[in-house]
Amino acid sequence: MSETAKLILDGQTYELPIVEGTEKEKAIDISKLRATTGYITLDSGYKNTGATVSKITFLDGEKGILHYRGYPIEQLAEKASFLEVAYLLIYGDLPNKEQMEFFENSITHHTLVHEDLRRIFEAFPTGAHPMGVLSAMLASLSTYYPEAQNPNRSVEAIDLTMHRLIAKIPTLAAQAYKSSLGQPTIYPQNSLGYTENFLNMMFAMPTYEYEVDPVVADAMNKLLILHADHEQNCSTSTVRIVGSSQANLYSSISAGVAALWGPLHGGANQAVIEMLEMIKADGGNIDRWIERAKDKNDSFRLMGFGHRVYKNFDPRAKIIKKSCDDVLNKLGISDPVLEIAKKLEEHALKDPYFVDRQLYPNVDFYSGIIYRAIGIPTEMFTVMFAIGRLPGWIAQWKEMIERGEPIGRPRQIYNGPVNREYKPLDQR
Ligand code: CMC
Repeated sequence: MSETAKLILDGQTYELPIVEGTEKEKAIDISKLRATTGYITLDSGYKNTGATVSKITFLDGEKGILHYRGYPIEQLAEKASFLEVAYLLIYGDLPNKEQMEFFENSITHHTLVHEDLRRIFEAFPTGAHPMGVLSAMLASLSTYYPEAQNPNRSVEAIDLTMHRLIAKIPTLAAQAYKSSLGQPTIYPQNSLGYTENFLNMMFAMPTYEYEVDPVVADAMNKLLILHADHEQNCSTSTVRIVGSSQANLYSSISAGVAALWGPLHGGANQAVIEMLEMIKADGGNIDRWIERAKDKNDSFRLMGFGHRVYKNFDPRAKIIKKSCDDVLNKLGISDPVLEIAKKLEEHALKDPYFVDRQLYPNVDFYSGIIYRAIGIPTEMFTVMFAIGRLPGWIAQWKEMIERGEPIGRPRQIYNGPVNREYKPLDQR
């Protein structure tokens, strides 16, 4: 396109190219700015910085739209399986029957993890947070597959690493949970589907069989799809930036898990339930907690509210809220925390503080209530997010590698002391 942006600096006019996406998003291309003008742009938290162009996920925060590879999230959450969505994100199109069979088969046959890994599990302290364990275990996988460290591998070899990761993450997550309880590991079962297998590894015991409730497996499938990608968020940017140094994929994903853990990102789902429990224990006084969230001298924030990109309802939150009611009804569960969540949402959406700042419930506001209903313990909530986000991380990493993007290396404006003279210790 011929349109350019004009920038006047020190009396001189520079023309900067405009880049337009297929959904009409526009960017000013500043990639040559420093070389031509000597200036850089400053954008703390990258609120206005496009790190890449991407064909994977489109989201419009103002309109509350989310598409994976052009497909609306509502359709995928309603009709697709998580592995189908994983394939779509990674390879660009929905699989045909043959491709799906091959993909599912490959995932199913890589679910076992090396027995030696059990010794690493044993070394974690009792009660270790499963996100710390998961991140460490994913990084340690790289030592079992040293060939993955060669960045110039064949497409088939890279595919194998991607499949291994998707196959093994539920096994590692369930083992982390079992070892935190001091219970024996339940091995994966090839006869079970992806979500069913995970639930079985979480809840079966050597002493009895666990029957997977299809309502629970469906709810989990939906949640995983809703979390599968969200363009250049904190953990995905982490995966890309680690991967941009040509570090292996296992280590890049392990770094993504660490980034996801924080309560401002994926850790919010755990923080939401803890907050709702706190409000319940406090007698359910919603107004008091809303006032605290608004008080700038109080560090308390309404967890599960607000989003860097959505300035409208998070479309994922809409689907989850409905699914939350469905799942609780089908399972015959009444959870007082759900009532508190609904009241909190109602109050906040009427409050000018939240209205003016366009703070709406995000994906994590109701997801924890579903996880609780299907028996997932609170500390595992963010692990569930990580299992869901894995195909997105992989797809974004793959796109970056295929595009041959350069190493990620932001600049800065230095504002510390200048030119100080070193004095020996006895003269300071
Ligand atoms: N409770 C109270 N005030 C809030 C909240 C909140 N949850 N979120 C934002 N604000 C206020 C914030 O204090 C600021 O006010 P002011 O303009 O007066 O200084 C204004 O809203 C803008 O907030 P911000 O922190 O500048 O916005 P951000 O884009 O940097 O942060 C966020 C986005 C998600 C980190 C933030 O909204 C937040 O901390 N939310 C709670 C944590 C949470 O639910 N995180 C999960 C996000 S969705 C899952 C995922 O994809 O990671």
